[in-house]
Amino acid sequence: MKFDTPATTNPIDQLKVVGQPVDRVDGPLKTTGTAPYAYEHPVPDAAYGHVIGAAIAKGRITSMDLAQARAAPGVLAIVTADNAGKLEKGEHNTATLLGGPEIQHYHQAIALVVAETFEQARAAAHLVHVEYERGRGAFDLAAEKGSSIKPKPGIGGEADTAVGDFASAFAEAPVQLDATYTTPDQTHVMMEPHASIAKWDGDRLTVWTSNQMVAWGTKDLAKTLGIPKENVHLMSPYIGGGFGGKLFLRADVLLAALGARAAKRPVKVALQRALMINNTTHRPATIQRIRLGAAKDGRLTAIGHESWSGDLPGGEPETAVSQTRLLYAGANRMTSMRLAVLDLPEGNALRAPGEAPGMMALEIAMDEMAEKLGMDPVEFRLLNDTQVDPEHPKRPFSQRHLVECLRKGADHFGWAKRTARPGRSRKGRWLTGLGVAAAFCNNLLMKSAARVRLDHRGILTVETDMTDIGTGSYTVIAQTAAETMGLPLDKVVVRLGDSRFPVSCGSGGQWGGNNSSSGVYAACIKLRQAIAKKAGIDEDDAVFSDGHVTAGSKRMTLAELAGESGLAAEDQIEYGDLAERYQQSTFGAHFVEVAVDAFTGETHVRRMLAVCAAGRILNPKTARSQVIGAMTMGVGAALMEGLHVDKRRGFFVNHDLASYEVPVHADIPHQEVIFLDETDPVSSPLKAKGVGELGICGAAAAVANAIYNASGVRVRDYPVTLDKFIDRLPEAA
Ligand code: MOS
Repeated sequence: MKFDTPATTNPIDQLKVVGQPVDRVDGPLKTTGTAPYAYEHPVPDAAYGHVIGAAIAKGRITSMDLAQARAAPGVLAIVTADNAGKLEKGEHNTATLLGGPEIQHYHQAIALVVAETFEQARAAAHLVHVEYERGRGAFDLAAEKGSSIKPKPGIGGEADTAVGDFASAFAEAPVQLDATYTTPDQTHVMMEPHASIAKWDGDRLTVWTSNQMVAWGTKDLAKTLGIPKENVHLMSPYIGGGFGGKLFLRADVLLAALGARAAKRPVKVALQRALMINNTTHRPATIQRIRLGAAKDGRLTAIGHESWSGDLPGGEPETAVSQTRLLYAGANRMTSMRLAVLDLPEGNALRAPGEAPGMMALEIAMDEMAEKLGMDPVEFRLLNDTQVDPEHPKRPFSQRHLVECLRKGADHFGWAKRTARPGRSRKGRWLTGLGVAAAFCNNLLMKSAARVRLDHRGILTVETDMTDIGTGSYTVIAQTAAETMGLPLDKVVVRLGDSRFPVSCGSGGQWGGNNSSSGVYAACIKLRQAIAKKAGIDEDDAVFSDGHVTAGSKRMTLAELAGESGLAAEDQIEYGDLAERYQQSTFGAHFVEVAVDAFTGETHVRRMLAVCAAGRILNPKTARSQVIGAMTMGVGAALMEGLHVDKRRGFFVNHDLASYEVPVHADIPHQEVIFLDETDPVSSPLKAKGVGELGICGAAAAVANAIYNASGVRVRDYPVTLDKFIDRLPEAA
């Protein structure tokens, strides 16, 4: 189905099942621990692999002595780059997944020890003796900023954009802000580690893994091993979180496959938690300079945003300027991204790559500018709204309800009670403050396929290689199919995460929910046509409802029409040039109240509100869970999360769950989410959009702005930990 003109009324609009806050259909499996994760699939006779990571960040292995480990109890095989045979590199990988002799980053995998038991594999791994020759690496973004390069156009578009004459407009602006913000490297710390089981049958490989993008993973695994893609069967039915860390093929899958080949046994590999953070990808740190120029009435006349980030040679920048290209009006503008070559582990996607760190900087800058102008920060944003893409004035937004989100949020949160002057609201030792930030995240269109099969019992089975990373894909797909076919939800079975199923959009970039459901919708429409034909009725007259199809005086059950052989259909949704003709984005507003200890700077978030405009909400319960999870990650980004770089040796020091701090329940007392009642007829036949990443974008800045309002101390370097401002608190004087 080609979808390239705005949707009119369609079967989804009846909202019998779609739009209902139904429980997750996989909920019972998840909460009883019976949804098998990658490492748990019952594969008989599986041996265990233990990964060894490089102990240096850059250089070479000069010798590797395996003799002692080979002789250790239970050891079946040891895989190294030396004995693994020729390996290619996956399309989506920057560093190779099995390093040696060249080492590209710390904890790059250099060996897999396979043994009868996990303990034997781990014990033997300690008997592998490796000598290195350490090379000189670059590990400090601030130090390498000066020699950074202009990256090639990538997923975030061109490196540089310009409209009007930024330099003159900024120079002439009566009110100016020129500030630099930093965001740290962050890691995904999803609950389920990267894990895989691999099994060979001759030259055919079966893997159970934890991967957000089944088709990418299958292709890259085949490419890396140099075997036909058809020979790889990859399954990823349940995923314990991904956040972008599982978009790509990682070392666990490849090493499990190599280990299984060497040991002639199925092999299970889970990346050890303390290895994961340097072995896999992370969100790169940024340095962002923002310049804003405004007229005295508060209208922005100049907007400039430059961002620097680092990555391994051949890597990509963190696209932290992308929202600044679209979010506010302003006749003169420039954005630019520069990329420093760093020898840290590979930088890549983490929930809302680009927009999340970009909004952390931009939305503090907007708060600072509002203050310079003597304006309320909500009013300042309302004044600078734009209804067209400022860089492409002929391209409208498909929908843009930023203003409505800000207004509704301000109302609901009690923004009018905020004390504008910072540091003036105090109860005992607690300084309290309110902060606001816009939320913004792009809505991406991806083609997505599915097949549906109706059987003689009237059960509809949906198959697509879409994944559910904890987001609710199973549920919204079931709702979409039930709605379109006029079936109750319990007559729909959804099967996901298998490379033998039609290729979906996968889970990433908040595109999963809308696009995968639209692919299922397309397949169901095709099935409706087949059913109408079989029933001998005109498709346009057919009403699908309660497991029946009705046309005029004819009424038949879907079960009887399916018959013994059943009926099946397969289709995909594709969008033509729709994404070029309309700018598609999601919008929102974050409001936060914090209390800051006047003496210690300890910050407590007291309440949070997110108002979201993200098209039709397919399931308010799963969507709300997505947004509160994202807001929680925003609190982490604001107050605690950050990888600490050892700038001499080139690795992330706090590479475990004990030292990489994330928010827990006690940190999040009250969160509320409001969805605007919105449908976007341009986004898809479902009129829905992504929502999983919107909730993180801006949340951290709202916290930082609330801290400023409470304490009067501005911190521009995330996370806003108390060491960065304790000496500037009023009580310190
Ligand atoms: Mo997302 S960071 O694209 O999984």
